[in-house]
Amino acid sequence: MTNKHKPRLLTGDTPTGRLHLGHWVGSVENRVRMQKDYDCFFIVANVQALTTRMDRTFEVHQNVMEVVMDYLAVGIDPAQSTIFLQSEIPAIAELTILFSMLVPYPRLMRNPTIKDEIRDKGLGDNYPVGFLMYPISQVADILSFRAEVVPVGEDQIPHLELTREVARRFGQLYCGVDPHTEDEDYVKQGGLFPITETKLSVMRRLVGIGPPAPDGSLYKMSKSLNNAIFLSDDPDAIKKKVMAMYTDPKRLKPTDKGTVENNPLWIFHETFNPDQAWVEEAEDKYRNGQIGDVECKRKLIDVLVDLIEPFRQKRLKFEQDLHYVQKVLKDGTEKANKVANETLRKVKEAMHQWFF
Ligand code: TRP
Repeated sequence: MTNKHKPRLLTGDTPTGRLHLGHWVGSVENRVRMQKDYDCFFIVANVQALTTRMDRTFEVHQNVMEVVMDYLAVGIDPAQSTIFLQSEIPAIAELTILFSMLVPYPRLMRNPTIKDEIRDKGLGDNYPVGFLMYPISQVADILSFRAEVVPVGEDQIPHLELTREVARRFGQLYCGVDPHTEDEDYVKQGGLFPITETKLSVMRRLVGIGPPAPDGSLYKMSKSLNNAIFLSDDPDAIKKKVMAMYTDPKRLKPTDKGTVENNPLWIFHETFNPDQAWVEEAEDKYRNGQIGDVECKRKLIDVLVDLIEPFRQKRLKFEQDLHYVQKVLKDGTEKANKVANETLRKVKEAMHQWFF
């Protein structure tokens, strides 16, 4: 099957650090799998990373390389999929400006993900214009490639909704698409952009290895919360993290009855242990005070090392060959520019702004 017959898929990451197990279960594992059925484009969104990191540009540069190495290490195959860098696709910047005319200002301010970020990152009312613009830039990331499918986590739904609105608006204003047209018929009716499908179902959210919030809920795994196990952690680091991992605080000795629910130790076993029969049996013992935390943690260490160590071994090779990593990114970016430039030309033509 050639790429022409595969639906085009676009997704990616803001380079804020190495990828961890939360990324793996939430998206990366799925991406590796989807490569054969979709024409995949993976964006390393460094411009988006800059929206809140203009004082740490060097760090963003480093993290671009970390993310690309993680992609390659876990099995994203540059012979099949396109890995590219956002800042080197000029069409994205141009389309961001053009699309910004199609988005009412109050519509941006109503974006719940933006509101959450302003609160969670403590941005107050001092955030840059570029931060407020990033959802439009993300619309341009997606529409530059006329992507049909965008697999993302729940927090990205508002950005995807905006993408769909801009795609519909563009089709109606400039391509003569009737406003009553069903989403799946936009391209058939002459629209330039397909109305992107959000792929959510396979998304899972992983908890971190630290203690819960004051209200008892568990934090999600996140580098900034310092509760992550990275896809590049060595067996020793994994061992230390799991041994220090939060479990049931009321259980002081192996003969105490333990709680399995909401306990990271068991969430991890349920998520990663291929031997689910063992997990079920061990959970029963844990509830009845017949098995120790340490034994269960040792088992979890084995499980996680089995998963992560092959990635790390592969990654070590890339760490020693940064030229290769750079080349993958450069070649992918070149390929991405061909598609994005073609889209930009069609956009300008449709808008009567193609002069020469
Ligand atoms: N905002 C996404 C995140 O933080 C990253 C991203 C940037 C993205 N551009 C995208 C995801 C386009 C999907 C499509 O995870």
